[in-house]
Amino acid sequence: MTDLTELSEPVAFPQDRSCPYHPPTGYDPLRATRPLARIRLYDGRPAWLVTGHGLARDLLVDPRLSTDPTRSGFPATTPRFVAVRNRKPALLGVDDPRHRTQRRMMIPSFTLRRATELRPRIQEIVDHLLDEMTAQGPPAELVRAFALPVPSTVICALLGVPYADHEFFEAQSRRLLRGPTAEDTQDARDRLYAYLDALIDRKQRQAGEGLLDELVQQRLSEGELDREELTALAMILLVAGHETTANMISLGTYTLLLHPDRLAELRADPSLLPTAVEELMRMLSIADGLLRLATEDIEIAGTTIRAGEGVVFSTSVINRDEDVYPAPDTLDWHRPARHHVAFGFGIHQCLGQNLARAELEIALGTLFERVPTLRLAAPPDEIPFKPGDTIQGMLELPVSW
Ligand code: HEM
Repeated sequence: MTDLTELSEPVAFPQDRSCPYHPPTGYDPLRATRPLARIRLYDGRPAWLVTGHGLARDLLVDPRLSTDPTRSGFPATTPRFVAVRNRKPALLGVDDPRHRTQRRMMIPSFTLRRATELRPRIQEIVDHLLDEMTAQGPPAELVRAFALPVPSTVICALLGVPYADHEFFEAQSRRLLRGPTAEDTQDARDRLYAYLDALIDRKQRQAGEGLLDELVQQRLSEGELDREELTALAMILLVAGHETTANMISLGTYTLLLHPDRLAELRADPSLLPTAVEELMRMLSIADGLLRLATEDIEIAGTTIRAGEGVVFSTSVINRDEDVYPAPDTLDWHRPARHHVAFGFGIHQCLGQNLARAELEIALGTLFERVPTLRLAAPPDEIPFKPGDTIQGMLELPVSW
């Protein structure tokens, strides 16, 4: 049996990508030693890294792995994560049975049916933003003009958060996920928390339309959710609801522009769009490094993961397991990519995935249909993208047409 402490030369995790749509080349040794490897986190702590697709799906449904970051010994891939652990988490940071209760309250708003009903509204938002972008340009900075406002507007409408406040909450979310110091991250979290707390106060006095209003009226007043939980829920929904999808739109656009043959194929047959979105999700794996803590010894893959050890899932490496995805570094609209783990797996699998898929299909499909000559307005390797310790995506995307 392998003991974590006996293994030598752990790979550092996370690392920065050198190409924004490929895993860091520093992870190459991990791809050669599937399904489990030893890594060293930023704080020098060792942890396990899950790199095999089958093992990932087995472990992501294993109740002996906790997502509760307030447990002692919970792993972190950046000091920012540690800085925000002093408040009650919601959904992602909560284990069953409380997680199940919270998730059940959210599910009706995130079903495939709800996402389908929202499609006309998403299309309107996308059309309006493209009207503005094409009226003002070329050129344009696509993150600011399109990739960010699409999911921001959608999640505001869904939650009942005023879009007029978008500059504030987008800026705080940016600091939360990418702030320069742990203190900065904590300050951003506190400001967001205070903002949402005041918004919930207003909704208690006067109900509006949106999921937060429903939760205030139906769950808070009935005592099924406490105030801190509701604010934490509002925070995860607001932040996860715009940052992730924005990154997929910007990085997805960049990737498509650098794969003109795949883009031409998609244009010639738009019915490929849903599978293309899945394949882009697999290829880009923007949420790389899902965190868990073993609460009991787990014997698996010829090894014992001991209670108290951190377990990290590299979605970018798992989604390129060649036993599951032949020629994994190639974009292929015809492969069955849907069982990728880019949305996670198991009880914490992305709550917003139906919504994200609808947004991505409409945003990418409409962008390339309405702006057929879209191109990068700077050399591809000079366009800045995000460092490895946060959600992956483009920092900016200068385009022209
Ligand atoms: C393309 C965009 C998105 C990606 C790549 C993404 C990725 C993920 C991943 C990987 C997880 C699981 C994390 C883990 O197991 O550690 C997750 C969970 C979650 N996501 Fe997403 N997400 C996206 C869009 C959204 C949207 C639009 C929302 C809307 C509110 C959302 C809300 C959530 C929530 C609330 C959870 C926690 C679920 C739970 O613990 O039960 N996500 N997401």
